[in-house]
Parts: sequence; structure tokens; C-alpha cells
Amino acid sequence: MRMQAAVLRAGDGPFVVEEVDIADPGPGQVLVRIAAVGFCHTDVLPRGEGFPARPPIIAGHEGAGVVEALGPGVTEPPVGSHVLLSFDHCGACENCLDGHPAYCRSFLQRNLTGTGTETGSQPVTDAEGKPVASRWFGQSSFATHAVVDVRNTIVVDPDLPLELLAPLGCGIQTGAGSILLALGVRAGSRVVVFGAGGVGLAAVMAAKVAGAAMIVAVDRHENRLDLAQELGATHVVLGAADDVPRWLRKLTGGGADYVLDTTGVPEVIRDGVDSLRVRGTIGLVGAQSRDLVLGPAALSSGKNVMGILEGDAVPRRFLPQLIELWQQGRFPFERLVRTYPLSEINTPPSGMPRPA
Ligand SMILES: NC(=O)c1ccc[n+]([C@@H]2O[C@H](COP(=O)([O-])OP(=O)(O)OC[C@H]3O[C@@H](n4cnc5c(N)ncnc54)[C@H](O)[C@@H]3O)[C@@H](O)[C@H]2O)c1
Ligand SMILES: [Zn+2]
Ligand SMILES: [Zn+2]
Repeated sequence: MRMQAAVLRAGDGPFVVEEVDIADPGPGQVLVRIAAVGFCHTDVLPRGEGFPARPPIIAGHEGAGVVEALGPGVTEPPVGSHVLLSFDHCGACENCLDGHPAYCRSFLQRNLTGTGTETGSQPVTDAEGKPVASRWFGQSSFATHAVVDVRNTIVVDPDLPLELLAPLGCGIQTGAGSILLALGVRAGSRVVVFGAGGVGLAAVMAAKVAGAAMIVAVDRHENRLDLAQELGATHVVLGAADDVPRWLRKLTGGGADYVLDTTGVPEVIRDGVDSLRVRGTIGLVGAQSRDLVLGPAALSSGKNVMGILEGDAVPRRFLPQLIELWQQGRFPFERLVRTYPLSEINTPPSGMPRPA
């Protein structure tokens, strides 16, 4: 079938909106007409030399849309279902069976290579008949359509606004799940979040849901910190400030119980570890580009470092919970969302949306 997709042709080039062909869904798959897709920071990683996924590739992994066709043998979700898309997983390895699909044995292959587990064939071919990497997170949803595994669909109420829900599938799930599921933030605790982008601000909102007594957001952009405060941060720190850990230890009366790093910057992570109190835990979600070096005594007082993928969430369980919290007004992630057409993918509106 003919469709449109934003193809990244070169690491340093723009996304090119092209007419391409997408195959029919195979066994275990459905065809989804994409109504909206979030833009997560991870979608720019295929631009980097040495990253497992390389151009030409269709990125996009926070798709939301309507099921349009079913592969052979598939009966659920029926045609017409409204679905969110999240990360791909096998459903059969020990971690999938344990209820931790983000740690699926084949997570890297399925989500971050762009080509998935099948070698050679790709669902999308370009006008010249050449294959385009189109299994990014099992969906490649910077496009009008996507072929996805049934396991990667989360059915939602058709009355809900798909363009708003799309980013739940990765960035917001990651920030919220890191706080509520992976770190298990407790009521009354002290939480510091480094980086107030989509992931970090979702973490701030989730820390408020969890009943944290102190929620500190750290970023280099003042407007993001303003928004963090409106979403529940009790304190904010401009990242350029001197000696952030000392300041944070003082503010928290000895250090944070939990830190979440969404920047991936090794120096910031080190500051995060130094901002923890005894037995505190730092969660790492930011894509890290360089080695992390910690001093010999950095972790000696029972501190923990936890790498986290996708908030350790089971999307079919967690996304409906986030939607319910949103409906109750307790998780106002609509404040992070701004919409624009696919044709403007190279020039998205800058900054975070401001309150109406
Ligand atoms: N582990 C996962 O499963 C997972 C899932 C989604 C996203 N990610 C990764 O999480 C990270 C955050 O994603 P995002 O969409 O929120 O990105 P983003 O770019 O919107 O946010 C990152 C924020 O960090 C801030 N920052 C950067 N360097 C800083 C510094 N030195 N001091 C203070 N603040 C600093 C930036 O100003 C920005 O506001 C990305 O690296 C992304 O690839 C990981
Ligand atoms: Zn698995
Ligand atoms: Zn993502």
C-alpha cells in the first residue's frame, strides 16, 4: 500500500517526507493508520555515528492511531480499535514472562536497530523499491501507517484524543514509570530530577502522584523549570549553579532519597550520586554518550545505581493507569504536548508549550 513517511536519509540531513510502500501485516501483526506520534529525544539517536540504527530509516516510536487491517490469524484488536503503540518485546523470554518486557532479551534488536529481528526484509520500501529501516521500536511511526505486532498495541477508549495520548508510549511512560514502578518512590520522600524535558517533567508529575514531600527539578532552561514548578516541583535549580550536590544535600537535609537522571551527561550523573543520602538510589534513563566515572567512595554508603528502560512498565497495564490519573486531573501531561503536522517535522515549534 502507498503511504507517506518522514524518512531520515542521512545522519546530518533533514527528514524527507516521501511516498513509500508498506507491506500488508503478517501473522501476529496489524496495520495501524497513525493519527499522531510523539517525538522523543531517542528519535534523533539514529543520526549519531556508531548508533545501531542507521539511515535510511523511519523513526517515530510513540504512535497512536486506528487499526485498519489484521494480519493472517489475528482477531484482536478488531479493525477500528483505537490504539497506542509502545516498545516491541518478544513476550516469551524470562524477563517478558516475569512482567518486565522492557528488559526483553531482544529489546535492543527489536527497538533500537531500526530493522527488528527479521533480517533482510523490511515492511517499507521506497519509490525505487529499496528497503527502508522500518522496524524502529517495532513501529516506525513517523508515517501515515505502521505495521506492528499485536503485542505492541494498547487499546484505548475511542473518545480519547489520540494526538494527546501518543507520547504516553515512551517518554511519558519512562519518566512516570521510573518514579512509580522502578524506583518505587514513597510518600514523604525527597526526589531530585535532573533534566526537565518530556521524561523529566513526567517524572516530576509522577513524584507528586506518589506523595513525595520534596521534588526538585534541575535544568539549564529557566522556562522548563517554570513549567516543572507548575507541575509539582517544590524547588528548582538552574543547572549552571555552582556545586549543585552541596546545595541539594543542604536543601534535602542530608541528600535525596531518589534521584532520576534524564540528561545522560556523566558529570550530571556524578552530581546526582553526590546528591543522594545514605542508601539512596539514582535511576539512569538518559541516553549516555560517554563513560561514567565515579570516585572510589562514591557508592560506599549503601547508595544504589539503577539503569532503567521504559520505566520498567508493562504498557498495557501502565498506560491505562496514567490515562486514569490524567482524567482525574492528577497527571496533567497535556501541558507537555504541542501538535504540528508531519510536513513540519524538521521545524517543530521550539520550547515547551505554555499554559493557555
Ligand atoms: N531509558 C529509556 O527507556 C528512555 C526512554 C525515553 C527517553 N530516553 C532518553 O531520556 C533522555 C531524556 O529524554 P527527553 O525526551 O526528556 O529529552 P529532552 O532533550 O527533552 O530533555 C533533556 C533535558 O535535560 C536538560 N539537560 C541537558 N544537559 C543538562 C545539564 N548538563 N544540566 C542540567 N540539565 C541538562 C536539557 O536542558 C533538557 O531539558 C534522552 O536521552 C532520551 O534519549 C530514555
Ligand atoms: Zn522478551
Ligand atoms: Zn522514546
